[in-house]
Amino acid sequence: MKTVEVDLGDRSYPIYIGAGLLNQGELLRKHIPGKRVLIVTNETIAPLYLERVRAALLEGGKLQVDEVVLPDGEEYKSMEVLGKVWDKALESRMDRGVTFLALGGGVVGDMTGFAAACYQRGVHFVQVPTTVMAQVDSSVGGKTGVNHPLGKNMIGAFYQPRVVLVDTDTLATLPDRELASGISEVIKYGLIRDAPFFEWLEANMDRLLARDPEAIAYAVERSCINKAEVVAADERESSEGVRATLNLGHTFGHAIETGTGYGVWLHGEAVAAGTVMAADLSYRLGWIDKSLHDRIVALMQRARLPVLPPASMTTEQFRSLMAVDKKVLAGKLRLILLRGPLGNCVVTGDFDPAKLEETLAHFTTAAQAQPKH
Ligand code: NAD
Ligand code: GLY
Repeated sequence: MKTVEVDLGDRSYPIYIGAGLLNQGELLRKHIPGKRVLIVTNETIAPLYLERVRAALLEGGKLQVDEVVLPDGEEYKSMEVLGKVWDKALESRMDRGVTFLALGGGVVGDMTGFAAACYQRGVHFVQVPTTVMAQVDSSVGGKTGVNHPLGKNMIGAFYQPRVVLVDTDTLATLPDRELASGISEVIKYGLIRDAPFFEWLEANMDRLLARDPEAIAYAVERSCINKAEVVAADERESSEGVRATLNLGHTFGHAIETGTGYGVWLHGEAVAAGTVMAADLSYRLGWIDKSLHDRIVALMQRARLPVLPPASMTTEQFRSLMAVDKKVLAGKLRLILLRGPLGNCVVTGDFDPAKLEETLAHFTTAAQAQPKH
């Protein structure tokens, strides 16, 4: 087992990473202070892993465990569905000592964290992520929330878990498309701050796609190390801080997710196309060279991720959806763009808007000419 520490002073917590960790109940139990746990999961994950997690919690004989099973899908990441968690907690008379445990991917994790942040003004929270996306990114760092019809992840809170337990064995049941979706966030770490990791991914992408346990464990650990460092440096994504760099490709990507309807494109797929769009803009601005741009496109394609947005999206739609991004400050759009050699990026509103127009026109035209996805 590997342990990566998220260093946030008295709110620091460990990320345990390893195969078969769901069988080691004490790793979870020692981070649960009260007597009651509410497991939040969904209808796909419950038949696969709920009983194991429940058994791991009950093992010590000290905990009372309840569960709530939500519908599965990004389209259910809403305030309405979130209410079911609070309904269950109130109906079961759970007090402020309860721990909410998220068992699932990023949707379950983000919703459970937000539910925990609000229930009786804040109860304990634990993450047991079961997708690549959640194991390398969403379960770490305390961003929680739900979607709004007008914008992705627009309602939420920063709320850190007490522990993240990553059992890499759970990825065995993950569909291939979901595996690839998570890999787009892994590639992100290489691009924004870890050039040797990007090179490792170029050399090992086939092993990752084949779910080689050693390669998966390495990619999860290295991603968590990167994420933990960024979160420790800038927990709440200040305007001058580094956390926004984790959103490379996301402004374009969130526009794709909102524009196509939540759940049609997977989050990582939208981020992949968005990252290629950010790389294109960076190249048009003269900030990266052509060979880096081409390596990014090639690695996304090898990961079987889309490199064009959906053919249905217009430049006007991109413009209006990107204008509600959380990084917009005083009405000015800010983007994460690559600048310099591999592993370097900037968060900036200081770029030629005509170049952004060129990027949007290029991608919407190319997508219409060659419908993909
Ligand atoms: P997801 O939670 O929808 O999970 C993907 C699918 O896989 C779902 O159908 C789920 O039921 C299923 N699943 C989960 N684990 C499984 C397993 N082990 N075996 C079989 N099926 C399994 O999607 P995701 O990609 O995990 O997360 C995407 C969400 O995460 C988005 O809402 C995104 O905004 C959010 N996100 C948040 C952060 C953050 O920092 N909080 C970071 C990245 C992404
Ligand atoms: N996934 C982006 C962040 O955690 O900041």
